[in-house]
Amino acid sequence: MFELTGGRPLRGSLKVPGDKSISHRALLMGALAPGTSRITGLSTGQDVAHTAAAVHALGALLEGGDRITGGSGHLHPSNAPVDVGNSGTTMRLLSGICARFPWSTVLAGDASIARRPMDRVAIPLRLMGAAVEGEPGDGGMAGTFPPLTIAGGGLHGIDYRLPVASAQVKGAVLLAGLGADGETMVRESVLTRAHTEEMLTTFGADVEVSEDRLTTTVRPSELQPFEIDIPGDPSQAAFWAVAATLVPHSEVTIEPVYIGQARACFLDVLRRMGADIEVEMVSGTEARLHVRHTQLHGTDVGGSEIPGLVDEIPVLAVAAATADGVTTFRDAGELRVKESDRIATVTAELTALGAKVDPTGDGLVVTGAAPLSGGLVSSHGDHRLAMALAVAALVAEGTTRIEGWDAVATSYPGFEEDLRRLWE
Ligand code: S3P
Repeated sequence: MFELTGGRPLRGSLKVPGDKSISHRALLMGALAPGTSRITGLSTGQDVAHTAAAVHALGALLEGGDRITGGSGHLHPSNAPVDVGNSGTTMRLLSGICARFPWSTVLAGDASIARRPMDRVAIPLRLMGAAVEGEPGDGGMAGTFPPLTIAGGGLHGIDYRLPVASAQVKGAVLLAGLGADGETMVRESVLTRAHTEEMLTTFGADVEVSEDRLTTTVRPSELQPFEIDIPGDPSQAAFWAVAATLVPHSEVTIEPVYIGQARACFLDVLRRMGADIEVEMVSGTEARLHVRHTQLHGTDVGGSEIPGLVDEIPVLAVAAATADGVTTFRDAGELRVKESDRIATVTAELTALGAKVDPTGDGLVVTGAAPLSGGLVSSHGDHRLAMALAVAALVAEGTTRIEGWDAVATSYPGFEEDLRRLWE
């Protein structure tokens, strides 16, 4: 339980944890690259700790907190089911890797993982030649659900159009393609985060990305051991960007975060709503963010910008709840199959704090400027909902108690400490 009374401005600068998406991929690619790679600035969350434990169970050596030694000479079957905890990214990306090796792996996780659809990776990996078995869904839901059993080896390349805009699925197919015979092509209709193709390219794989960035081709190739310093996580920065915008007299600087392809669309939305955010580029894909309090107004969020801000919708809904006018989130049906059904949970919990939120089949309609008042709310075991509720609590009248606060450790164990630092 986290008890929070807001009203105090947030001031100063902070460094958010290393990017979660990049951290997962660094560990997985470090496990594949023959030799020793060095990874600094890893995400401190439990999701990434699960990926580290998973690659360790499959034979990669992890030493000194920053070194990983991998390659097929080290990798071997795990003698127990590999536990991915709450991490859908771990399960989906690791499926692509397990599909390559001529042995069987069981990938299991917590109760929330058991509800995450896995057909999206099972189908292309089967087309490539892997055997992927899962469980039926809760209440007879159609499709493949965890735990997954993957019997791999003997893969061949495919030409695959993603039926759902998902960087996890793109990543799984590309990682499998790296070890398949022939060429593997992944075609997207909408741009999603590009970490897999960017990192595979940097780490020496034979990868080609089309000019419009919608098609990625990978050919069988070996990764080279690498060094990476993981940039800050824009998805964590989003909580502070919204908090500093909403709480009067706040002024916060967020030390550099990754703002490359399909990761920082929340900034466009907040600026469209009137936010005062200065983006100070420090490299081609990283920027320091300077945020000052302002009153927001409603906007319309949908279409091809959704994959670039899907994880930020819970906290953008909080921003919308305090904005003048109506904000709509459309085309975001994927929210139903995240760590919680975020259309249902965001609606229920923000409504409990006095916001006016109406769920739709694939989004939310938020009528802003209803006064928020503290109350008892629940994270539903969902880290991003927990932190979004903490941001709402900062502008709610009175005290808010958030049940299931420990979910925050999934991606941002230091959230509470960082909040106190900005309050000092
Ligand atoms: C992620 C992709 C997104 C995102 C998730 C991380 C990734 O999921 O929601 O938190 O690292 O590739 P989808 O690919 O399922 O949209």
